[in-house]
Amino acid sequence: MSEPAATVGFLVDGNQSPEQRAALEWCSANGIDVDIVSIEDVATGDDTSVGDGDYDVLWWHRAAAVEDIDALPDCREPIRSSLEDGGGLVLTLRALEAVRALGIDSVEPDVSTLEEPTTTVGVLWKSLYTDHPAVESFDELRVPTRDPGGPQPVARYESVLPERGEVLASTLREDHEAPHEVAVVGWRVGCGDVAGLGTGIRFEGETPVGPAENRTRLLCGLLDVLADDRVRIADERPKDAAALAADRERLAADPHRPQYHLSPPANWLNDPNGVIEWDGTYHAFYQYNPGGPYHGTIHWGHAVSEDLVHWEDRPVALSPSPDGPDRDGCWSGCAVDVDGTPTIVYTGGRDDLQLPCVGTATDAGLTGWEKSSANPVIDEPPVEPSLRSTDHWRAEFRDHCVWQADGTWHHLVGSGIEDGGGTALLYTSEDDDLTDWTYQGPILVGDPERDGHMWECPELLDLGEKQLLHVSNYETVRYFLGTYADGEFDVERTGVLDHGEFYAPQSLRDDDGRWLTWGWLEPARDEPAQWDAGWSGAMSLPRRIDLGPDGRLRQRPADELTDLRVERRDDGSAPVTLDDERRDVDVSGRALEIDLEVRLEDAAEFGLVVGESPDGDERTPIRYTRASELVVDRAHSSVDPRTAAEPVRMDVTPVDDSLSLRAFLDGSVLELFANDRHCLTTRIYPTRADSDGISLYATDGVATVESFDVWTLDSAWESEP
Ligand code: FRU
Repeated sequence: MSEPAATVGFLVDGNQSPEQRAALEWCSANGIDVDIVSIEDVATGDDTSVGDGDYDVLWWHRAAAVEDIDALPDCREPIRSSLEDGGGLVLTLRALEAVRALGIDSVEPDVSTLEEPTTTVGVLWKSLYTDHPAVESFDELRVPTRDPGGPQPVARYESVLPERGEVLASTLREDHEAPHEVAVVGWRVGCGDVAGLGTGIRFEGETPVGPAENRTRLLCGLLDVLADDRVRIADERPKDAAALAADRERLAADPHRPQYHLSPPANWLNDPNGVIEWDGTYHAFYQYNPGGPYHGTIHWGHAVSEDLVHWEDRPVALSPSPDGPDRDGCWSGCAVDVDGTPTIVYTGGRDDLQLPCVGTATDAGLTGWEKSSANPVIDEPPVEPSLRSTDHWRAEFRDHCVWQADGTWHHLVGSGIEDGGGTALLYTSEDDDLTDWTYQGPILVGDPERDGHMWECPELLDLGEKQLLHVSNYETVRYFLGTYADGEFDVERTGVLDHGEFYAPQSLRDDDGRWLTWGWLEPARDEPAQWDAGWSGAMSLPRRIDLGPDGRLRQRPADELTDLRVERRDDGSAPVTLDDERRDVDVSGRALEIDLEVRLEDAAEFGLVVGESPDGDERTPIRYTRASELVVDRAHSSVDPRTAAEPVRMDVTPVDDSLSLRAFLDGSVLELFANDRHCLTTRIYPTRADSDGISLYATDGVATVESFDVWTLDSAWESEP
């Protein structure tokens, strides 16, 4: 940083508390030029220094609650005007409770308390902001800032996010990381900036060594940023497309980031939501946490595509309303065309209730949604049959699939029967505003052992001769193929849509009548590793789902994916006979499509190895065995112990037929389509830059590779300006 904070106005109401006195002593010990500013005097006009902009930074440090800001002398105007003119403000501990009263944010921290930490507390800085000037003196994201013991006043965002503030850090505890507990927030207000640090610091009784030294560096870093007119504390939220593109660019060098699979610009993504083709544009919304790479404070992110393969980020489309039934999260839902109006039905969460909510698009680009004043549109879950409850939820009752048939709207909600199996509950409506629903009952109840106890994200697709119901049961995506009529689903065949880390898929019927499906590709590494990466989650490729000539389910990559092909690379040797041998393929890369046809002949096993380092220390064999299994063997995929190493497997066609395999490798994503039918999508995290090789092998006999093609694939995202 250029210069230290030149002048600090330390706000005090009434007598200085012992904690405030200790903070003032800390200022003088650290050479900070500080004036005590009486809030009373500012309010009465006896002190005009704040409004006159005499201070580079105002600091309000408060251990006691600001429960009733109206009872405090009103100094909002001068503080506000100093900010508008480019001044800085730092709110520490419970002073953060005043953000709404000060006009900084419409949402105030939802947790205000006094903790007694028994371990060190500190900040868990977001990797997206590694280069933030406030933390340039640290080379760690995990910074303890406070010793154990003694009271810790806290004000933080936990179940809600500030409407306009950007989260810079969460809370670090010695025994665990707490990404849900937001610790540092930055706001832009006019030309000025505000930093909120609601936890992890104290002055009274703290020995000035160890964590307290970090506290000093962090606070000095924040004061420096706030005092420097040339540096902004954070992007404005909600972020515009340019800011999202900048986030994406910050993470671009990460070799585990997918290039052509949909991913969040940064932070967290789970289920695809509201996928729809509208006016010739494909819209993919998704469960998104702008607060960080962890599941919580769920909004709807948004990306659009004209061609199904190149995507652009759009600003967050749907946010929780602080006073609404979706205060704690806008969870999964679908989009439908209601007589020319794009309409979404999604789950709003609040306290122990999850209930359906409706919104209609405010513009043709689907960038904004007006929530219905009738939300929640179903007031409570049905009482018959009795539904599962959890420690958190009064009843499991969420996720929506809506369609119109013969003038009637049908609406499925995911649930589970108490002490029984998962189920999809049907509601119907004759009204186009989708706010008045009549309960009809379950269309199907699964076998709890085989199909799971709870069905999330049920979806019913009409495939012509048959209907497909798929549900996500916490473990996997179970499908049922059969006939749906009169509120009942008659099952002919059941199976699993994808045998890997693929969950909560959602589909659209495009203008050509195709069903295109995307699923959430879950991470296969632990939470600290996701925090370090700064992003989590991706979407599968768009899959075309239909029935084959044999009446069985087919799943194929959408045809448009071939548009991503940049260069065809292979060693020109197919067909090739492998006789108990291994061959390197003269191709490397991390954004590839590999298509092959192989016949086992008398080999025990054929393997396609990806992500292979020259010494073989890291490698991921995709093994095709005589047992008709395709196994992704992750035992040596990565030397990073934070990543999954167990194998993922699926049954494929009997071995006397040849196997046709389309393998899409994209950073940490490996998505496999076998015989246009079986899918397995999984995640691998090789650590080495040279873990990008490919080889083929056969063991104990001959395998014939009848065709073999490799393409390098383009990025889905335009490179940044
Ligand atoms: C599935 C799911 C849904 C829920 C959403 C919350 O992954 O748990 O049931 O609506 O994610 O993010």
